[in-house]
Amino acid sequence: MMVTAPVFHQWFRQVRQWLGHLRHWEVRIPAVDRTCFPMPMPAASGGASFSGFFPVCAGSIRVDSRSIPVETGGAQGTGARYHIPVLEEEVVAALEPQPGKLILDGTLGGGGHTLRLLEAGAQVVALDQDPEALAFARQRLKDAGMDENLVTVRLNFAFFPALLEEAGLGAVLDGILLDIGVSSHQVDCGERGFSFQKQGPLDMRMDPDAPLSAADAVNTWPEEELARLFYEYGEEPAGRRVAKMLAARRAERLFTTTEELAEAVVTVIPKRGPTHPATKIFQALRIAVNDELGVLRSALNAAHRWLKPGGRLAVISFHSLEDRIVKQHLRRHSEPEIDRPEWPAPRPNPECYYRLVSRRAIVATDGELARNPRSRSARLRVAERLP
Ligand SMILES: C[S@@+](CC[C@H](N)C(=O)[O-])C[C@H]1O[C@@H](n2cnc3c(N)ncnc32)[C@H](O)[C@@H]1O
Repeated sequence: MMVTAPVFHQWFRQVRQWLGHLRHWEVRIPAVDRTCFPMPMPAASGGASFSGFFPVCAGSIRVDSRSIPVETGGAQGTGARYHIPVLEEEVVAALEPQPGKLILDGTLGGGGHTLRLLEAGAQVVALDQDPEALAFARQRLKDAGMDENLVTVRLNFAFFPALLEEAGLGAVLDGILLDIGVSSHQVDCGERGFSFQKQGPLDMRMDPDAPLSAADAVNTWPEEELARLFYEYGEEPAGRRVAKMLAARRAERLFTTTEELAEAVVTVIPKRGPTHPATKIFQALRIAVNDELGVLRSALNAAHRWLKPGGRLAVISFHSLEDRIVKQHLRRHSEPEIDRPEWPAPRPNPECYYRLVSRRAIVATDGELARNPRSRSARLRVAERLP
């Protein structure tokens, strides 16, 4: 059945209304499966809270007791100080936003990608688990006069199916965008505890209400688990020695700041070359604290059920662990046939949901690399839902 534009707009208004209503609820959402590391899931597993209202002050937004500078002075605002979106043109080309299309942006961040989707006339449901990001992006998009076709929800993207299920929706999405990892703002903000270059609490939670911080992991996990974490998520050859040192030091005094951890790591891995010795240790902790690989797998496993035929999934990743998961998932679900040595002939793949839009990962052009060095490690993979 052809859905006309007025019907679509009316439907989107209903979804907005429904989501607005949810702000006053606590929605219970089941936990994602975790097979690794003995820490509890972020708060979203116990009861996701949907974004509340953040009053706006002149030049800043208050979230809890903190004040976030708002750089957008109106429609001209670029949000560039908060976060420069990577592969922007490539994302637009992949998702082909236009009026009548509904796109889920699972990682709103500074709102740069969402702004482009809205400008092209699409409707967007945008999620972020970080209330600061939501408040910032909502204000930015409002200032740009682009919030009419936008719904924002504070939610871990692993739980997007529960959100759509609650709304009684089926395979309604024309696009899903995941630009995973942290924003420049999160890294640059010492208070969030992501960076070994900034003083701050040893935190690293994208969702500040999540129960597990980096300090909890460093101070309470068994040495063996820390060693495994640094090896598997950090690919740090000295991970075992770092874990041993941390276990010995925390017996004397618990770690509370990023600086303490970075300084302790340097005693085991001496500084050589431009990369800080604690880089991989911090990366591993961040991935674990936010269960970044687990939530990515959950979202990928669900995506095909919510995309319309012809709808597209676009995922940007920033390190090889994530990119491998995306690449293998899309490859497994885009091969029409599977073959096994014990079979006389290949058989049809019952789980072939996608057509790969490009076989190789899309990377930044030289121009983008010059403008935004952070785009260096970005890899975009795109697949289209088969009928
Ligand atoms: C790389 S930034 C996205 C930037 C955004 N595309 C833009 O144009 O500004 C990643 C954002 O996604 C959020 N995020 C990361 N993982 C998430 C998850 N599992 N669920 C919800 N938000 C997540 C982070 O809090 C951060 O704000």
